[in-house]
Amino acid sequence: MTDKELLEAAKKAMKNAYAPYSGFKVGAALLCSDGTVFYGCNIENSSYGASNCAERTAIFKAVSEGYTDFEAIAIVSSGGGETFPCGICRQVMCEFSPDIKVILEDKNGVPKKYDFNEILPNYFSLKK
Ligand code: THU
Repeated sequence: MTDKELLEAAKKAMKNAYAPYSGFKVGAALLCSDGTVFYGCNIENSSYGASNCAERTAIFKAVSEGYTDFEAIAIVSSGGGETFPCGICRQVMCEFSPDIKVILEDKNGVPKKYDFNEILPNYFSLKK
């Protein structure tokens, strides 16, 4: 799957975003090592702290289905331009796949690919 195709999958996922409070919709598409793709969107709640980011929605869906080996995650938002994952989502990504690539789309629609090390260097882990 190409970076562009994964970004298109993230845009499809964003259509299901539930973001009535922030108005900021996010979509994520998570590519597993066997080629399976999981879709995620942000899901907000009246009790704001109960909201969930698009990236974690996709990752938790995957893990709960037995997939923990991730190759890449594409993220898009209604804000346009590159939407970097929040700190909590970065920490959740590296729990499973510290070599995951993060694919974003710049304001001109060009895919940008980041190594996880650029996204969260020296991440916390109990596993070392
Ligand atoms: N959000 C995500 O879905 N992913 C991120 O990495 C950052 C923020 C969502 C959470 C909330 O629903 C909205 O964007 C505004 O913060």
